[in-house]
Amino acid sequence: MEFLPVDLARYAEAHTSSESEVLRQLNRETNAKILQPRMLSGHLQGRILALLSQLVRPKRVLEIGTYTGYSALCLAEGLAEGGKVITLDVNEELESMVRQYVEKAGLVGKIDFRLGNAAELIPTMDETFDLVFIDADKKSYPLYYDLVFDKVRPGGLIIADNVLWSGKVVQPEETKKDRELRIILEFNAKVQQDNRVENVLLPVRDGLMIVRKK
Ligand SMILES: C[S@@+](CC[C@H](N)C(=O)[O-])C[C@H]1O[C@@H](n2cnc3c(N)ncnc32)[C@H](O)[C@@H]1O
Repeated sequence: MEFLPVDLARYAEAHTSSESEVLRQLNRETNAKILQPRMLSGHLQGRILALLSQLVRPKRVLEIGTYTGYSALCLAEGLAEGGKVITLDVNEELESMVRQYVEKAGLVGKIDFRLGNAAELIPTMDETFDLVFIDADKKSYPLYYDLVFDKVRPGGLIIADNVLWSGKVVQPEETKKDRELRIILEFNAKVQQDNRVENVLLPVRDGLMIVRKK
């Protein structure tokens, strides 16, 4: 579902910094070859992630849900000297494409792709994160929030994608039956009630929850 009329969305993209050539290629190749290319963040959201990363200047970024690597490449744009994006995905079929584009982007050593189930990998990490991007299986969003919270430094960001769930978050109560929708609603309420954070639900694309740990 598109929230903005197509012409307004095009206008917004036309007045947003361009994707790099590598990101454009990755976007095109994902659309041509990979299942569910709508999962890729894309131009506008990618520039938002890159801009937030530029503002935070993170040493450590954790991304939960790499897919083909588009958002990992965007998040890496703001890394501080010696910084690293650790990105997790459970789908081994994506690994070679991710590694190919990390190399094309000149980011070997700055993007650390780890294959596995995020719920199992995160508890094994002994890191403090400046920025976390949650963009994997929706049923685990509340769990991922809890697993990463103590690993995020005060002032750090947690960003979660798809929190408007194609607009279904506001559909009539009696029709809210889909399990993923119920969990997204639970996640949004959990963040909203969490007095340890400041948050903004940004209605961009499928909705980005931007959370700053106090
Ligand atoms: C929406 S896509 C990520 C899109 C990517 N962040 C981007 O913007 O280009 C979600 C990804 O999460 C991965 N995923 C799903 N469940 C997972 C899990 N339990 N652990 C790690 N990754 C998972 C899927 O394989 C998929 O590639």
